[in-house]
Amino acid sequence: MAQATAVEAIDLVKHFGPTVAVDGVSFSIPQGSVLGLLGPNGAGKTTIVRMLTTLSVPTSGTGKVAGHDVVKAPGAVRSSMGLTGQAATVDELLTGRENIRLIGRLYGLPMSYLKGAADALLERFSLTDAADRIAKTYSGGMRRRLDLAVSLVAAPPVLFLDEPTTGLDPRSRADLWDVLRGLVRDGTTLLLTTQYLEEADQMADQIVVIDKGRVIAAGTPNELKDRAGQASVVLTVTDGADLPRAELLLQDCATEVHVEEASRRLTAKASGLSAMTRIASVFAESGIEVDDLGLKRPSLDDVFLHLTGHRAEPAADTDTDDPAVEEAVR
Ligand SMILES: Nc1ncnc2c1ncn2[C@@H]1O[C@H](COP(=O)(O)OP(=O)(O)O)[C@@H](O)[C@H]1O
Ligand SMILES: [Mg+2]
Repeated sequence: MAQATAVEAIDLVKHFGPTVAVDGVSFSIPQGSVLGLLGPNGAGKTTIVRMLTTLSVPTSGTGKVAGHDVVKAPGAVRSSMGLTGQAATVDELLTGRENIRLIGRLYGLPMSYLKGAADALLERFSLTDAADRIAKTYSGGMRRRLDLAVSLVAAPPVLFLDEPTTGLDPRSRADLWDVLRGLVRDGTTLLLTTQYLEEADQMADQIVVIDKGRVIAAGTPNELKDRAGQASVVLTVTDGADLPRAELLLQDCATEVHVEEASRRLTAKASGLSAMTRIASVFAESGIEVDDLGLKRPSLDDVFLHLTGHRAEPAADTDTDDPAVEEAVR
């Protein structure tokens, strides 16, 4: 049976005066899966999220969240999703617990329910000890977790996360990934925007690469890596004296052979597993002892470079030149 679709972008377009921020973007997210919207600063990610979460009206096209049309039924969309944006929504003068309860009240949830729900969320995001401190005293990572906890109080089946880990240190980022994986295991559908190739690779079932308001590639992380071209073979010989002979053998089975004497390592371009199998048997017959033989696929960084002609440079965490954020803050 085909999986139900949780989120759909249908030819979304957004103009801001002369600026075409989003230029005909379509994708769909099966229920319970993670879509990573990957692109550099200014690519149109936030604008797409804002349209799908009813905060911004599309110039044309539309979207669906949990079956509801974002243009025709924005109220129904809002009640089936949670959003954490680049601009945090946490009230700094309230405690963590009060923040969660406040948003729960706004959703019309009864206090009797909210007491337990707030405790469970605080626990889940490792904020129990800080629950009764005002959010102003929280670190960046704690705030991000509180922001996420707040957006989950109404247990939305679909969650939009706009650059949830930008500006976090690697440790907090890894912690947040763990939390998100837990949500997905429990059936939540995630749309996550990111400038981090590694994040999309780690978290997403499907990646949509956006550049200048357009989809320039889409697929699983592996499919995208396949498109960036050939994999490399990496081979380490046990005895450095065998390097010259190993180089000659490798030249027969692969191209662009490169030797690193210090590490006794040879790398080469080879087309897939069949080349690999051939190399393995050639070396087995040659009597050259090998410590290690492996296939290294291109990284998502390589993919981005291949697709756009430029590297994906995550912007320093200054959003000052980002009008979408200013609009959200206002
Ligand atoms: N409210 C706005 N008014 C004018 N231009 C905007 C507004 N919001 C976004 N833009 C422009 O649209 C483009 C896409 O921005 P955005 O969606 O914020 O990209 P991203 O989130 O990928 O960094 C940028 O050129 C940005 O300057
Ligand atoms: Mg953005």
